Amino acid sequence: MRGRPLTMTDKSSSKTGTDLNDPGGLRARPIGVFDSGIGGLTVVRELRRCLPGEDILYFGDTARVPYGTKSPETVIRFSRESLIFLSRRDVKLVVVACNTASAIALPVLQETVSVPMIGVILPGVAAALKASRSRRVGVVGTEATIGSGAYERALRKADGELFIAQQSCPLFVPLAEEGWVDGDVPHLVAHHYLDPVMRDGIDTLILGCTHYPMLRNVISQVVGASIRLVDSAEETARETAALLRRTGAENPRAHGGICRVFVSDTAQRFESIGSAFLGEQLESVTVVDQSDLPWYER
Ligand code: DGL
Repeated sequence: MRGRPLTMTDKSSSKTGTDLNDPGGLRARPIGVFDSGIGGLTVVRELRRCLPGEDILYFGDTARVPYGTKSPETVIRFSRESLIFLSRRDVKLVVVACNTASAIALPVLQETVSVPMIGVILPGVAAALKASRSRRVGVVGTEATIGSGAYERALRKADGELFIAQQSCPLFVPLAEEGWVDGDVPHLVAHHYLDPVMRDGIDTLILGCTHYPMLRNVISQVVGASIRLVDSAEETARETAALLRRTGAENPRAHGGICRVFVSDTAQRFESIGSAFLGEQLESVTVVDQSDLPWYER
């Protein structure tokens, strides 16, 4: 794993400043999480629930959001830069919280740095396969995610007989960003996207985008209570916890982890709506200047 070892300051440290139970300070390092913008905070929310002792370092690429309408080449370039920014800060693991980045860029990202990495597609697929009885599954996501076929490939690999209905829902992202998550407009939009998927007789729907859990109530009302909604954030957090345990990298602290947030454009908007995505008060947000390249080497 790359990165400088951390200097331990806790009381269990030896005179040399190294915790003998944690050589290299691996366990004390933060988990890195990145997303195209604010949506990845829904994944952070689950990570905080599941791993309250872990520090989290979040990067939201707010200057370049959305990724979901961009070409694969651009998504890969932006995602690589976001990853390098985090890896320079000694993170012990990276969660690619953005579905679009996970769907399109994960293989390239895994070659870019040697830090262990978890995307959100496979955890979502695993949860959907557990939930579905009829073997008829729907997937909703950004245009880029659906266009990549990443969910379809992963679902089909696990179960060749599965029926899969897919639908991109581009207006869900701005609605969630506006906090417009209830009322006539979101209902109308949700009907427009989801009615055709429902006609396919699915019993499980993967919310394949970081923003869609914010619209969970509307989506649930439109598709009906019998449809299982799969939020990949929960399963991703569980997989992250399992990976940390397996590799001995789990922070032994039971609680008290902090979440530091970096964004690439003005912090104001992020601060005003971020708490709703995170489910708790957002602490300080630092803006990273991207005006000179390579900004991510900072
Ligand atoms: N974070 C993106 C995703 O999960 C949604 C926003 C965007 O299009 O960048 O796909």
